[in-house]
Amino acid sequence: MCGIVGYVGGREAAGVILDGLGRLEYRGYDSAGLAVKGFGSDGKLRAVKRAGKLSVLRDAVAAGLPAGCVGLGHTRWATHGRPNDVNAHPHLSEDGRLAVIHNGIIENYVELREELAGRGHVFVSETDTEVLVHLMEEAYEATSHDLATAVRACLARVSGAYALVVAHAEHDALVAARNTSPLVIGLGSQENYLASDVPALLPYTRDVIYLLDGDVAELGRDGVVITNLQGVPQARETNRVEWDAEAAEKGGYEHYMLKEIYEQPTVLQNTLFGRFTHGGLDVELGLDLDPTTIDRVVITAAGTASYAGEVGRTLLRRLARLDTVVEVASEFRYSEPVVDERTLCIVVSQSGETIDTLEAMREAKRRGARTLAILNAKGSSISREADDVLYIHAGPEIGVASTKAYLGMVAAFALLSFWFARERGYMDDDAAREYVRALRELPGQVERVLQVREHVAQIAEQIKGARSSLFLGRGINAATALEGALKLKEISYVHAEAYPMGEMKHGPIALVDRDLPVVAVATNSPLYDKTVSNLQEVRARDGRLVVVADEDDTKIGQHAEFVIPVPRTLELLSPVVNVVPLQLLAYEVARALGRDIDQPRNLAKSVTVE
Ligand code: AGP
Repeated sequence: MCGIVGYVGGREAAGVILDGLGRLEYRGYDSAGLAVKGFGSDGKLRAVKRAGKLSVLRDAVAAGLPAGCVGLGHTRWATHGRPNDVNAHPHLSEDGRLAVIHNGIIENYVELREELAGRGHVFVSETDTEVLVHLMEEAYEATSHDLATAVRACLARVSGAYALVVAHAEHDALVAARNTSPLVIGLGSQENYLASDVPALLPYTRDVIYLLDGDVAELGRDGVVITNLQGVPQARETNRVEWDAEAAEKGGYEHYMLKEIYEQPTVLQNTLFGRFTHGGLDVELGLDLDPTTIDRVVITAAGTASYAGEVGRTLLRRLARLDTVVEVASEFRYSEPVVDERTLCIVVSQSGETIDTLEAMREAKRRGARTLAILNAKGSSISREADDVLYIHAGPEIGVASTKAYLGMVAAFALLSFWFARERGYMDDDAAREYVRALRELPGQVERVLQVREHVAQIAEQIKGARSSLFLGRGINAATALEGALKLKEISYVHAEAYPMGEMKHGPIALVDRDLPVVAVATNSPLYDKTVSNLQEVRARDGRLVVVADEDDTKIGQHAEFVIPVPRTLELLSPVVNVVPLQLLAYEVARALGRDIDQPRNLAKSVTVE
């Protein structure tokens, strides 16, 4: 996630931009920049951009804000290209008269970059965004310098997610466009604003227009014109924002955790896409790793990250036939681990600062293993020491209970396992085509699952008084059960325990009675019939069964007290869809119990001490 701010009006644009970017800092940044111009077609674009936090940019312009009443600004959460001055936004045309800022991922940027370079365009950055600048340069000339038309012509060539803003030295207006990534217009008197999110607008206006996918907006001082990508005018309603600043940072959600649960479709887009090549049959992960040098994999992490690792273990074993184990970091680091130079040690971490995970990685390196980190936070300790890093691009996760980062980690394992499987020759084109099709459906499927929230809240009301609960899953979804149990424990303070479903009869079934909620994952799998038998064992002992099942499963209702339907996907990708109802269940139970959901007792977002 990046932060975007734009302004056209009578104030000094740079001041409005810096203030707005500061209010978007929860979106995270590893570089920041702005470009402004004075009114009049001779106005030059003056741009300043720096790696590092927003304070570095503020220091860079402290000697004197670039003057001008039209401008745009950006804080970057890097996806493609290191966090440095050159890769910071805005990106400028070769003549310095066109500036672009962008949030999202241009999926076909590799092909576009090759095409544009072939026509003599010189690229200076490593970003996907820069292709937009060069495409717009061409379109601007081809459309006799009509900026909005040039932007529309450029976007006709682009696939992927974007919220972008464009300024040109010859125009006293900004042009913005949105597809998937958020963008909001703020309406003023003789001035208008743009931002990724409402908090940046609140000091200036509460009258906003939420741009929709496919919208292209032209902002002048006196008004806003919105069209679709074909240039057809679009009517958009003005909304009055009643939130205070804190509520605005939560996007109107009651808690950051709930907002982050609902951000998961976007996270999946950011993690999964923009990395496919060869018509979507292969991925480019940017790893230095040579897959032929690896005989086995050890995944090590803590808490929720270790449960993402459990999903990753099954994916690597089943897809790439790699001998893979998971060891919790706090144990691994002291276990005299059996690793060597043909072992890949995968560390998984949202914060990249968890001391157990960092020290586990160091222990593996000391013993000769190659290390790969699956991370969210940029510039973290783990990112600096791992041999390779695979970022999940989930954006800052504020809620202590990890949700969107977990889903991003699982998606990263789905990509990594696919890469290994193709590299090791265990997946042919037909299988790859089916797998990638299923991956592409995940964001929309998670979007649909989120619609069960009200149904889940009713179930939560029924089970909130329980002293304890059991979570059950088979195969790859044994990990889903582990994560569901942890979510419930850590935010509702209700004890929960997870077991592989087949283990019930070896002891835990003694716990089952009318007072014990049993949450089971029973989506499609070769072992579905055995799963149903396990559910019958629980029902026979009056257990209160809550079952996550395929929405087209018409039989499961006879075996459960409550059924939570989810879209059907491949068994190996089902943890992505199946965990979402469990996140919502934990959230609704905790909410019903009045818990401090974003800062649960005794917990910290990142455990940097032993
Ligand atoms: C997850 O909800 C918990 N907050 C905790 O288990 C967390 O996953 C664990 O501490 C690891 O943190 P990391 O991903 O930042 O390394």
